[in-house]
Amino acid sequence: MCAPDAAITQYDPFSAECLSDPYPYYAWLRDEHPLYYVEAYDMWVVSRFQDVYDMLGNPELPFEAREGTVPTRAEMLVRNDGPVPPLPLQPVGGFTRIDQPHQGRLRGFINQPFRPRPVARLEDWFRDMVRADLPGVLAQGEFNLPVVFGLWTARTMCHLAGLPTEMAGDLRDAINESSAAIGNADLGLDPLDGLKRISRAAHLAVARRREAGADGEHPFVDGAINAVFEGRSLSDHEVAAQLVVPLIGGVETVPKVTSHGLWELTKNPDQLAAVRADLAATTSVAFDEMSRYCGPAQWFSRTVTAPVEIQGHRLTPGQRIIFLIQSAQRDPREFPDPDTFRWDRPMKRTLAFGHGGHFCMGMHLAKMEGRVILQEFLSAVEEFDFDDDAAVRSASSFQTGWDTLPVRIHRLADPS
Ligand code: HEM
Repeated sequence: MCAPDAAITQYDPFSAECLSDPYPYYAWLRDEHPLYYVEAYDMWVVSRFQDVYDMLGNPELPFEAREGTVPTRAEMLVRNDGPVPPLPLQPVGGFTRIDQPHQGRLRGFINQPFRPRPVARLEDWFRDMVRADLPGVLAQGEFNLPVVFGLWTARTMCHLAGLPTEMAGDLRDAINESSAAIGNADLGLDPLDGLKRISRAAHLAVARRREAGADGEHPFVDGAINAVFEGRSLSDHEVAAQLVVPLIGGVETVPKVTSHGLWELTKNPDQLAAVRADLAATTSVAFDEMSRYCGPAQWFSRTVTAPVEIQGHRLTPGQRIIFLIQSAQRDPREFPDPDTFRWDRPMKRTLAFGHGGHFCMGMHLAKMEGRVILQEFLSAVEEFDFDDDAAVRSASSFQTGWDTLPVRIHRLADPS
């Protein structure tokens, strides 16, 4: 287990040290400061599994996402020094930062295709698309795995939004750039530029569905076009705003989790052999452990909206509270030997997809895509490894996923 480092005396999620390796800081926080205060951002930090689980899952607590769930450092440096008003309902912004109960209602307009049955119906389409692509991809011999997987997840989101799948590569790149840029000035990337490109794709989806009559064929978009919210219809701009975060979540996480997960399997050949032994049965179990161990998103933020006492500390309106999902997922109080990857780890519960009102809208889609990607890749490839020295992990405060993970294909499976 990652032991707390005696040299650690403070935690700042935006510091260079934390960005390069947050795990020793998480161990220190969990052991010594389960509720930690960061003066610079007027922010509380929750690091233990049980605390994150209890607080995110308690709708009575006055924590809302009205300042966004992944603020940048510049945004965090602005002190509120008092209550932050909720965002307006007209025009209404994207549901992920609207207060309850409106968040749940807006989300309900677009989440139909992400429910278990529609996702199950999508599986053949996704598998066929992956199978059609794989031979050409594998013929390259060496390539960046998350970029290839990211094309597949981006095509899925284009398909659901009624966008041409030819747009998938641009959408994936815009999303990866905007995530990498958050809290990472060194890269010289502008998160707003990436967000503008994602927003343009969302607006195009709305225009195309309006033109096609929004007849329900693409409920991800049509659901919001046809919705009645606060006694009125949503404008095109308001509909597009609902699509942005699902597009981001739907494109970037599964590729990072599965690529990193396959890397872990190659480091543990006995585990790779065990997964290979029965792909139909093992891959969904392996994807669960990959989601725990390889989850790229580090934390999600909320703003305190009323005075509240937590663990003997008084939290006041306008302060922030962040929930360290990746610390919780490595908490030895919940997961024995948490820093070891174990494909068939028994898990009573997980925070990989969050908890409570903002619980991941795409979990069923993520699990289907992750399972199919693992099955198809491992069925087609007999021997592969990774160029460890060329692996690069984005050092954004929001994401520590491996963006560059070159895979080398040594032997394909016999097609017979
Ligand atoms: C392995 C893949 C994924 C992981 C690990 C993951 C993880 C998470 C987590 C931890 C949250 C909670 C955020 C919070 O509490 O503020 C979340 C929210 C969300 N996820 Fe995912 N996600 C994944 C895939 C997807 C996919 C495929 C979609 C596609 C629609 C998606 C869409 C969303 C949305 C829209 C939210 C915000 C929900 C809300 O604020 O109500 N995610 N995700």
